[in-house]
Amino acid sequence: MDKLTVLITREQIAAKVAEMGKRITADFAGESVVLIGVLKGATIFLADLARQIKLDVSFDFIAVSSYGNAKQQSGEVKLMKDVDQSTEGKNIILVEDILDTGLTLTYIKKVLLAHQPKALKIAALLDKVSRRTESIQGDYVGFEIPDEFVVGYGLDFAERYRNLPDVCVLESGSGTR
Ligand code: IMP
Ligand code: MG
Repeated sequence: MDKLTVLITREQIAAKVAEMGKRITADFAGESVVLIGVLKGATIFLADLARQIKLDVSFDFIAVSSYGNAKQQSGEVKLMKDVDQSTEGKNIILVEDILDTGLTLTYIKKVLLAHQPKALKIAALLDKVSRRTESIQGDYVGFEIPDEFVVGYGLDFAERYRNLPDVCVLESGSGTR
């Protein structure tokens, strides 16, 4: 049986996302931005964040292979779905659920920078700073969290729990590191 313990409540998330949206609105005043969500974990965060940005906003999505059904990162990132629209000359905000080792975003950043956007920023709801192996950091970070496996608000374990409104620590009976 999986045990779930709330780490960040929906109210805390809503307040933080509003703050992040305000900062982005101020930083890109008078300009338009493209939010590029990393499927599938970032979808709920992107939907909420987008509504807190008072600018001309459009969406795009990118998909990479990641953990599969395990909790450990394989160390390999593969592009499964590229953006639909060219990012050239645009203000891009890469929207991700969590920065862990940093491998995923380092890879995606490289892919996107090759197309010469005007600006490229990273918005991550969560940041497991202690797990970082790559030299990458978020420009807009919601919460720094300890090295625990979390689910909810878009984050999954084996595709489950994405719909939980709060971010919860998952302690499962088997397969936990
Ligand atoms: P990174 O490449 O190690 O930074 O890993 C980022 C990806 O790993 C995120 O997009 C998540 O899909 C996944 N991930 C890392 N930590 C967690 C977690 O605690 N819960 C769920 N997914 C996670
Ligand atoms: Mg993910």
